[in-house]
Amino acid sequence: MRRKLVVGNWKMYGRLGRNKALLEEVLKGIKDLNNAEYGVCVPYPYLAQAQSMLQGTKLAWGAQNLSQHEEGAFTGAVAPGMLVDFGCRYVIIGHSERRALFHESNEIASAKFDAAIKAGMTPIFCVGETLAEREGGVTEQVVARQLEVVLNHAGVEAMAKTVIAYEPVWAIGTGKTASPDQAQAVHAFIRQQVAQLDGQTAQGLCILYGGSVKANNSPELFAMPDIDGGLIGGASLVAEDFVAICRAAHMAAQ
Ligand code: PGA
Repeated sequence: MRRKLVVGNWKMYGRLGRNKALLEEVLKGIKDLNNAEYGVCVPYPYLAQAQSMLQGTKLAWGAQNLSQHEEGAFTGAVAPGMLVDFGCRYVIIGHSERRALFHESNEIASAKFDAAIKAGMTPIFCVGETLAEREGGVTEQVVARQLEVVLNHAGVEAMAKTVIAYEPVWAIGTGKTASPDQAQAVHAFIRQQVAQLDGQTAQGLCILYGGSVKANNSPELFAMPDIDGGLIGGASLVAEDFVAICRAAHMAAQ
């Protein structure tokens, strides 16, 4: 059976004191949830805090972005090796906020994906359609294109070291979740795209759902055959909610 995974995406939220309280409570809450895996992707300045608090615990940590360059004159950018220095296991790539607000194209996301793999981290590669694209009936084309760029470039072998996150843009931070059936359909489609190249890799591929996952909708979502967990924004900032979602993954994996 594939593992279940829940990863918090803190986005641009956090302060040292708040993080400490949140992480302590989450660690306490997931102590006995042994069936699934858990992580948090924190803002860069808090990687050192995450590393010192989470080393040797059940909660892995990572970043929300990285530069595609190894080093150089790129003011304000953060190199893959720097994330490795702080023990990052995960790095989110191609989040829709990066794509929309920071103009990251499929090609840039693909270069960042390559950089993450090369540095030995697990990319959490985000795909998903906008509301207009869903209403226009092109969800599958959009997702296929986002995946294809990475598959063509890095090859299907890289999928063995990758987590995919399906995040419909219309569901992110809006309180509107894709229904379990809607999400399942796209997850199955993603798995099938990878299966066309390598069936075994596709079977092992961890595909998370993201977009307004909350404590109350997570059990239903995680029960779907191709939904292997969640990428959690808002609810990852409230310990009780995040732990409840982790528990749903733990239960679904039993
Ligand atoms: P949300 O965000 O859970 O707040 O909708 C998910 C994400 O953007 O990863």
